[in-house]
Amino acid sequence: MRATAVAPANIALIKYWGKKDPVLRLPENNSIAINQSNLYTTTTVEFSEEYKEDQVKIFDKNNDIVDFVKKERVVKHLDRMRKMAGVNMRAQVVSKNNFSIAAGLASSASGFAALTVAGAKAVGLDLTEKELSILARQGSGSACRSIPDGFVEWLKGDTNDTSYAISLYPPDYWKIAIIVVVVVAEEKEISSTQGHQLAESSPFLSTRLKYIKTKTEAIKESMAEKNFNTFGELIEAEALELHAIMLTSTPPLIYWLPATIRVMRAIASWRNKGVFAYYTIDAGPHLHIICKDKDTQELTARLKQIRGVENIIINKPAEGTRLTHKHLF
Ligand code: PMV
Repeated sequence: MRATAVAPANIALIKYWGKKDPVLRLPENNSIAINQSNLYTTTTVEFSEEYKEDQVKIFDKNNDIVDFVKKERVVKHLDRMRKMAGVNMRAQVVSKNNFSIAAGLASSASGFAALTVAGAKAVGLDLTEKELSILARQGSGSACRSIPDGFVEWLKGDTNDTSYAISLYPPDYWKIAIIVVVVVAEEKEISSTQGHQLAESSPFLSTRLKYIKTKTEAIKESMAEKNFNTFGELIEAEALELHAIMLTSTPPLIYWLPATIRVMRAIASWRNKGVFAYYTIDAGPHLHIICKDKDTQELTARLKQIRGVENIIINKPAEGTRLTHKHLF
């Protein structure tokens, strides 16, 4: 059978950095994220006796074939689904991203979430949202957060069955926007998979983990109260803390580029003049600016003026991964 799913990329507000169990991809801490409306992956999977081996084709936003994603990681995920369903058929996988992948825009999250939902359906499994999130997590940790809707929390758990993401609020809960600022369109140098392994080499990881629960509770409280400025201050401080861990790893991970810092400084100076926006940054040089809906146009116009800003993608909070009938083959 053939099935297709569309999955959003999610942006973490409380970051996942460091794994307790690298095989099962169990994280050190809970994380919080928002699914995004304008960064997504569509994937069609078909299992058939006719296929002699698994075939995987991944396309970039320009329909260029992507050859740097490891096919083995996709095949391993197909193996998990075959095992669960008790079948041995090979599969064809075609995947299309609406954004430039592997540039720190969380393509592995949307990629593995779409592969999970389409693959599970195609192989004949009937899984709950929780089971899909658990399965997606094993492909790529952050992918588990792309399964449920809107504002989500990944409960770290301590076994395979207790580590999954849930929806905290639906997409329309809060009228905010996420402006993605792409500063370069190159492939990132150190993958997040490699980065996670270095987290423990930072002398500051243990301090981070000591306080992360309190910070997570504080951010959830600001969301419950819709207190935008407290929310923004917390997510910005969290992004800087993530990069403090990265910068102090051995070897150090320096993801920022000059344009990244120009945007960070501009956002802070605009706040002093009454335009309230906050940034967060993942394992790459790009930024995600969180603002109230009403400020999106003004901020976009300002951001475009900054030297080194290549592209801007405006997102709203989005629903999680969905099946669709629009198959890619
Ligand atoms: O799921 P991974 O292995 O791509 O790790 C994601 C790591 C960060 O994007 C830096 C943080 C996060 O929580 O998404």
